[in-house]
This record gives sequence, structure tokens and C-alpha cells, in this order.
Amino acid sequence: MRKNIVAGNWKMNTTLPEGVALAKEVNEALKSADAKCDVIICTPFTHLASVNAVIDSKLGLGAENCADHASGAYTGEVSAAMVASTGAKYVILGHSERRQYYGETSAILREKLALALANGLQPIFCVGEVLEQRENGTYNDVVKAQVEEGLFQLSAEEFGKVILAYEPVWAIGTGKTATAEQAQDMHAHIRSVIAGKYGQEVADNTSILYGGSCKPSNAREIFAKPDVDGGLIGGAALKCADFMGIVAAFD
Ligand code: PGA
Repeated sequence: MRKNIVAGNWKMNTTLPEGVALAKEVNEALKSADAKCDVIICTPFTHLASVNAVIDSKLGLGAENCADHASGAYTGEVSAAMVASTGAKYVILGHSERRQYYGETSAILREKLALALANGLQPIFCVGEVLEQRENGTYNDVVKAQVEEGLFQLSAEEFGKVILAYEPVWAIGTGKTATAEQAQDMHAHIRSVIAGKYGQEVADNTSILYGGSCKPSNAREIFAKPDVDGGLIGGAALKCADFMGIVAAFD
């Protein structure tokens, strides 16, 4: 069956000492928390090896991106193999900030996915519409296309390793959350798109996280929806108490 997951996305925040301190704090809090979900932190590349050295196996570790090439003359890039060699087990791919600011297309994301999977990393694959698409009513088609173009080249076995995250771009970092109903409607839609390709069993086993201004005060209502399997948390993942407050939404 699918897992409930709360994953932090630290984005471009914290220096190395700050990041290691935050990871230690989350790790300690998790030890005594009796969490009813898997908990993951996704940190900047520079932090991965150091963070991996100070956390226990109960806390998952992931990167926020990886390169679309395996190795070679790509100055400044970080490969999936490099990420895996730090001990990280997950990688966020297709975050809207990557799509929007760094021109990541579905074609690029397919390369990244293949490399992530080949290196044993579990992708957290993000989809989501912008405000204009929410307002003009095309959001279901937009997200369907992102899922189809990004993921449907995968075999059912490969797809089984993917965690999805629905993050409406208009809700990211804006303090404006989708309503629990809007999240549920989209998650059910995504699950039906997956079922159409891979069958109901695979769809039912896929974890679909919600992301966008998730905080302790709204997580419980959103996570209570049947097709919402947890959250991808940005801003609130940078404060241990807030992040653990969201983890506690599963009880
Ligand atoms: P937010 O970010 O929680 O700060 O809105 C979520 C994300 O972008 O993953």
C-alpha cells in the first residue's frame, strides 16, 4: 500500500553549519515523535554528505535536483550518481522553480528520472499549474500533460518507485494554500490518470503529496483527504517545530 510521507524541501536556504544543525534537530525530534508517516528532508547538494553523517535511518535524505547527464563536461552540475554516493535516497525532480527559472522541460526531466532511477534514487516528481491555468480552468489538462509527458515512458516497475507531489504554483511560498477540496480533486484526478496507464493497483499504491504553503495549522485538514498522502514542505521545513507539527498531522 502507499505510504504517508512528509518531505521537507529546504530550497536554497541554510549554510552548511545551519543545515547540519537543523538536520540534527529534526533527527532528535523524530526519535521521540512516534511519527505515523515517513519523514524526509531534501537539502542543498553541499549539505548531503554531512547531513547523512548525523541522521539516523528513520529520517530519509534527498537532494533537490540532479543533472540530466550521467557524467562528463557539465561544469557546475551534480549527477544522480554523486547524489547517491552521499547516502541520499531521494531526489526532487521537476519542481516548479526548476521548470520556471531553469527551463526544465519534460524532455529534460525524463533524462533526470532515468538517471535517478538507474542510481537507486527515489524521485519525488512535482507537477502543478500556474495561477492563470487555475483561473482559466485548464489546470486538470495541464497537470495531466505534466504527468504523461514526464512519467509515462517508465515501466510499471519503475513508476512504482516514484512519489508524486502536486504543487499548485500559485500556492508555493505565497501563504495561499489550495483548499483541502481543491487538493483532493486534483489528487483524485492524478490518480485516475495513473490508473488509465498503469492500472488501478499501481495508482492506488502511488503516494501523492500536496505542496504549497503547508503548515501545522492546515496540514491536518489537507492530509485527511483520501487521495492526499502527505506533503512537500518548503518554508515550514526550515523550522523544526513547524516541520514536526506537520508530521504530527498524521496521528
Ligand atoms: P512552500 O513550498 O511550503 O514554502 O509553499 C513548497 C515547495 O515549493 O515545495
